[in-house]
This record gives sequence, C-alpha cells and structure tokens, in this order.
Amino acid sequence: MAETAPPVTMDTIVSLCRRRGFVFPSSEIYGGLGSTYDYGHYGVLTKNNIRSLWFRAMVQERDDIVALDSAIILNPSVWEASGHVAGFTDPLVDCRTCKLRFRADQLEQASCGRKPSKRPGETPDCDLTEPRQFNLMFETHVGALQDESSAAYLRPETAQGIFINFKNVAQLARRKPPFGIAQVGKSFRNEITPGNFLFRVREFEQMEMEFFVPPADAPQWFEYWLGQRLDWHRNLGLRESNLRVRAHDEAERSHYSTATSDIEYLYPIGWQELEGVANRGEFDLTQHTQHSGTKLEWIDPDGNRYTPYVIEPAVSIERIFVALLCDAYHEEVVGDRERVVLRLHPQVAPVKAAILPLVPRDEGMASRARSLYEELRRYHVVEHDESGQIGRRYRRQDEIGTPWAFTVDEQTLEDETVTVRDRDSLAQERLPLSGVRAWLDDALARDWSSPSSD
Ligand code: GAP
Repeated sequence: MAETAPPVTMDTIVSLCRRRGFVFPSSEIYGGLGSTYDYGHYGVLTKNNIRSLWFRAMVQERDDIVALDSAIILNPSVWEASGHVAGFTDPLVDCRTCKLRFRADQLEQASCGRKPSKRPGETPDCDLTEPRQFNLMFETHVGALQDESSAAYLRPETAQGIFINFKNVAQLARRKPPFGIAQVGKSFRNEITPGNFLFRVREFEQMEMEFFVPPADAPQWFEYWLGQRLDWHRNLGLRESNLRVRAHDEAERSHYSTATSDIEYLYPIGWQELEGVANRGEFDLTQHTQHSGTKLEWIDPDGNRYTPYVIEPAVSIERIFVALLCDAYHEEVVGDRERVVLRLHPQVAPVKAAILPLVPRDEGMASRARSLYEELRRYHVVEHDESGQIGRRYRRQDEIGTPWAFTVDEQTLEDETVTVRDRDSLAQERLPLSGVRAWLDDALARDWSSPSSD
C-alpha cells in the first residue's frame, strides 16, 4: 500500500463529510446560515461514540464524578455573576473597504476579502474601524413580553450550570472533595469569525467536568487532569506527533483562571486548541455565593469551612470530530486501485462491521448474510450491503472507517465459515459463522493505536 496524497486539507474533510453524509451545511435549501451544520447518519453515530467514550472515562469508570444535565437557559443573574455579561467579549474591527469583520486580536492570522488576499490593515487601502467589544452570548426572551426584564441568554458554556448546582449535588450525591460533576450539552456563541468547518461554530456540544478540590491540592489535580485528558486523546488513536500541550501565559488566561493549558492538535489550519484544562480557583463558587446569597462552600466533618477550588477540562465534540477525521484520513493505492480509508479507532467508527454476501443472487449466501446481520445488529451498529461489486462495497466501507467486513462466500456454504477483512492491514482470515459475534466483541474491546506512521 502506498500513500498517494499530501497531508489532508480541511476541504478534503469537508468534501468527504458531505459525500458520505457525515455533516451537511445547515438550512442549505435556504442558502445556509453561516457556519452552522447538520449531522447525517454517520455523523450522528460518530458523535454518539465520542460522547459515550468521554462519559465512560469521566463518569462510568470513576467513583468520584457524577453526571448532571442542567438547563440551557438559566436565570440571567447566573451570567452576571460569572462575568459573562461584562466580560465574555471579543474585540472586533470592521474594514470599510472590503466590508469584512475581523477579530482585532487575530489580525495577524486573518486575511481580507481582496485578491490576492492581504492581512487586514496591511495596505493603505485598508480602512479599519477602532476595535469595539462584542459580547458573544446569544440573547433571547423568556415569556410573552419582549422587554429588558424578560431578557435571557443561551448558555455559552455548560460549566455555570454545574457551579450553581454544587450544593444540590454535593448533598444528594454524598460526595466530598475531591469530586467532580460532568455535563455534556449544547453551548452557543455568537462568534465573530466562525469557520474552518466545525472547528469554530456558533452552536456546539461541550463536554465539561468541574472537579472540586481542597485549595492546597489544586496544582496537583491540575497536572493530573492535564495528563488524563492527554492520555484519553492518545487512546482515541490521535497520533502523538499531532498532539502537544501549551501553557497560557498570564495575558492569555481567562478572567477566572489561575492556570490554563491547552491540549493542541495539529489541524490542517495549524496547531489549535483541542481541549482546555483550567484551574478556575474559587472564582465561580465565590461569585455565585455573593450574587445568589446561597453559600457554596464545603464544611468538613471537623466543622472547617472552605470554598473548593475547581479544575476544569473542557472540550467540544466538534473539535474532537474534526481532529479524528483529519488524523484518520488516508488516500492510498492498493494493487492498482486507489482507495480513501478512514483509519478510525474501531470504538469511534460509526459502523463496526459490514456483512457482505459475495454473490447476493445466491440464496444460500444471501440468507446467511442476512441472518448474521440480524444477529450482530442487536449488539453493534453494523451494515448489510449487497449492491455492486465486492471491491466497491469494501471501498464504500473503507471510506466511512468500518474496521471489519465479514464476507459470506462459496466456502461458507460448505463449512459455515466467513472471511473477515481488516480495514487497515487488508489481512483476511476465516472464522466460524457461529463465532463472529464473540470475535467482534473481543476485537472492539482491544486497545488500538493508529497504524499510520507519525
Ligand atoms: N468552560 C470553559 C470554556 O468554555 P473555552 O476554552 O471557551 O472554555 C472549551 O471552551 C472548549 O470548547 C474548547 O477547548 C473547544 O474544544 C470548545 N469550543 C469553544 N468554542 C468553540 C466553538 N466556537 N466551536 C467549537 N468548539 C468550541
């Protein structure tokens, strides 16, 4: 097998997602709505897998973290207390010449609309306005009246729903620090410059965990969670050479943070934040205590009171989704044929196995393939495909990352065995039909690392 293409571009990933129905531009028949996307069948399955792998690592396999699902629209005072109303802003500038809008703090990386493209402000023709602060929260109204008293916001992060429930959860879940609360759900930001496919969108699904610890232990828990989260991304199969950790300096840190490090991925657009890990200190619990009048503190058995510090790993499914597809995408020549293959971790792959009768017209093969499919689909997402040449059917599965194909052929009719074909090595072996389910269960439970070289 030989690689045929240079490193993947974002356009290649966008086109694969569209062609195979992972992701489409949203509201397309009405001309779309800037940087919003809808997920098709394989996209939904992949997202579900990412979400459940995160949940498994962060909640199911631990004793010290519980789950929460808080509302998207919260009392607006939450966002006053959190600092989002006053400070969740980006500085924006407009160019009166090219009529485009830019983030004032990212002009170096931006390019203006003219050809050949220039950096905004680079030429004498550029006519930039003074920077203005622009709040990224989407506003809405609760109830029938649309005045100031009914104004509310779509949450820009899931974290605040966790902080305001600290007391409820600490009491009801019978946990004491160190313990965490995990939440997955949609967040909304009116980004000034969304783009690069799903990398920066206005509506995205965050997976956040707030870990409450005694203040003196916060630095060591910060390092612990940074390590855990980096390992999680590695275990998902992201290549080591495409991952790095970058610590924020003081100027870059958010208002609430005393330490932040980003886990960065080498996207086609360069090194960018995949996940952030922050030490939020006591900022949030203190702010909500002051604004709500409810004490959000911990009282230990000796009667000592303290406000726990918070360590927060926060990531979106979208950023993981793009990183996984970029890492997995390969074009190569097998024999004299080209194929596109997604070398996804089998646990992430949308479809776990394809069941293919070699000659669909053959009643014996067709019925065995169908009953194998009906057995396997009770436990895993699998596909039954009987249309077209076998080579084309394999390639269709390679392109969506299906790790294994079970082919029912002439020999099956004689000895009740099937061929299993491996997506990455293309190796084939024979298995008894009756053992396929156990084989697939085992194969899916194995550790996996990308066979692609670093
Ligand atoms: N609660 C902390 C917080 O929200 P953040 O760095 O603003 O921190 C956390 O966001 C994570 O959410 C990021 O690391 C990224 O994975 C994801 N994220 C943020 N904005 C996003 C956007 N516009 N589109 C997609 N994902 C985004």
